[in-house]
Amino acid sequence: MCGIIGFTGGREAQSILLDGLSSLEYRGYDSAGISYFGADGKIHIRKTIGKVKDLRAICDDENSATCGIGHTRWATHGGVTTTNAHPHRVGRVSLIHNGIIENYHELVKEYHLESDLKSDTDTEVAAALLNHFYEEDPKEAIRKTVALVKGTYGFCIMFQDFPNTIFSIRSVSPLVATHCEAGSFIASDLTAFIEFSKEYFIVPEGHILTLTKDAIEVETLEGVSVNPEYMTVDWDVTAAQKDGYPHYMIKEIHEQPQAILRTITPRIKNGLPFFEDDQIPDSFFEGVTDITIIACGTAMYAGMVGKTMIQNRLQIPVTVTIASEFRYEMPILSKNSMVIAVSQSGETIDTLEALRLASKYTDRTISLVNVKGSSIARESHYALYTHAGPEIAVASTKAYTVQCATMYLLACKLGLSLGKMSEADAKEFIKTLESVPDYIEAVIAKASDVEQLTRQMINSEHTFFIGRGLDYTLTMEGALKLKEISYIHAESYAAGELKHGTIALIAEGVPVIAVATQKHVYSKTISNIREVKARGAYVILLSMDEKITDDSICDVHISLPQVPDEFAIFEAVVILQLIAYYTSVGKGLNPDQPRNLAKSVTVE
Ligand code: F6R
Repeated sequence: MCGIIGFTGGREAQSILLDGLSSLEYRGYDSAGISYFGADGKIHIRKTIGKVKDLRAICDDENSATCGIGHTRWATHGGVTTTNAHPHRVGRVSLIHNGIIENYHELVKEYHLESDLKSDTDTEVAAALLNHFYEEDPKEAIRKTVALVKGTYGFCIMFQDFPNTIFSIRSVSPLVATHCEAGSFIASDLTAFIEFSKEYFIVPEGHILTLTKDAIEVETLEGVSVNPEYMTVDWDVTAAQKDGYPHYMIKEIHEQPQAILRTITPRIKNGLPFFEDDQIPDSFFEGVTDITIIACGTAMYAGMVGKTMIQNRLQIPVTVTIASEFRYEMPILSKNSMVIAVSQSGETIDTLEALRLASKYTDRTISLVNVKGSSIARESHYALYTHAGPEIAVASTKAYTVQCATMYLLACKLGLSLGKMSEADAKEFIKTLESVPDYIEAVIAKASDVEQLTRQMINSEHTFFIGRGLDYTLTMEGALKLKEISYIHAESYAAGELKHGTIALIAEGVPVIAVATQKHVYSKTISNIREVKARGAYVILLSMDEKITDDSICDVHISLPQVPDEFAIFEAVVILQLIAYYTSVGKGLNPDQPRNLAKSVTVE
């Protein structure tokens, strides 16, 4: 949701900014721009609609700058035009912004900023306000501006009279920074500068940062100096590169076995779940009466898997609520309710706000988050980090499977604490969980078969995904994946529900992807599949059968390795991810950067 970077140091800034923006491009790719102090000491701007490669094409002419800021935009206020692209400049101020200024109309009126504005963006109003308050002291202008601005922001600002210096402040929108041998960096996430430093700190909210080539000063709005708390990232630069794969998405699909192993192995001791290293006391699990899972999109679908599995296994009520709905409804929570917030980025504003609301009712909030130190992790009572490594493709894959795996560990721990699972059961459960990565490897080996079958799908307008129980929860994720990267309409349906209306949409050749791995409903699902097949659907069936010989059931059968039913979701989802990926590629699209989307949704 907009990527921002700032650099000042002893090296050529343009290429650092452009490379940094390329790694942040997953956060938005409507337009891109940089501003920098040129050899003449003045601020210069280059910006364009399109992607970072288009920006690069207009940036080759200046190479001496050593300080600049850069932005890749996901449009919120104002269309996709070069004028609306960041950086914005008003008077002596150049600004980039991630977030939304909610009261920008009011500010324009109150401070008579109309004549300063060329674009339709909220951001330019912030630049105009900074310029309005700026006399000689940049920090004073920042203090006065943020006192008035309502909304979310990560700002990086350059003032004409302060060459080679970047000022920054944030509220909600994420920013990380580092000072290292090359100079000082600030960015929306550390993939933008990991090549230069594995050490970084999370920019504290409401603090002013002053970046020069020699240091980063952090101070409160009252001017009190603060020592930032540096952390070390536990992955390296290659984790954020394509590494020979044509797209990040397919690379990330392949990384799933390792990502699951990294996430679960440190949390298993003597064959049982072990959360002591996460500093979660056993008392946290004792006496839990019900669970509410809050999340958005794919993370919410991981929550759906968790709900079905936990409810069936432990017989305690579990609710999954879309975070953006939860936050404006009246939650039914008590002090014994456990609330699980699931988020890859840890910055999704809807999930963060839902978590804040839940924290008013219970002290038992826990987050499943991939990004270390992110807001959701910090604001929940406990965090269970997933170790998927950086997920760059906009469509989530490995983050989802590690969320599911963590949910399984959590379920097992709860089962033991609540006396709903015996130690022997728990050991068996964990043993199977540990074997999931091997099964996923076996499924990934079928990638070329999946590529073949998607040829039948690339010209489809509509597709349906059906299943029952855990399979149904999985098809929700399969349908989302296909929609977002192939632009084919995909709907997920509980297999038994189709006949209550939606079956009217089944016509000759309409692809139906059916998942039937759950033995207790297998024959029911097969009957539902026959119903669509009889009406001309092109059925792709995923099951744990070795072979399906009856061609009144399906056109294509994908046989999954035999595992206990609860664990089949891990195998089946990989096939669904591959179907989405190859359909997108088959249509000539870029699966890593689907239209209108951005990763890390920090606006409501
Ligand atoms: C879809 C996808 C999104 C995210 C959702 C929540 O592939 O990635 O649906 O799952 O925006 O994001 P996080 O997990 O960062 O809170």
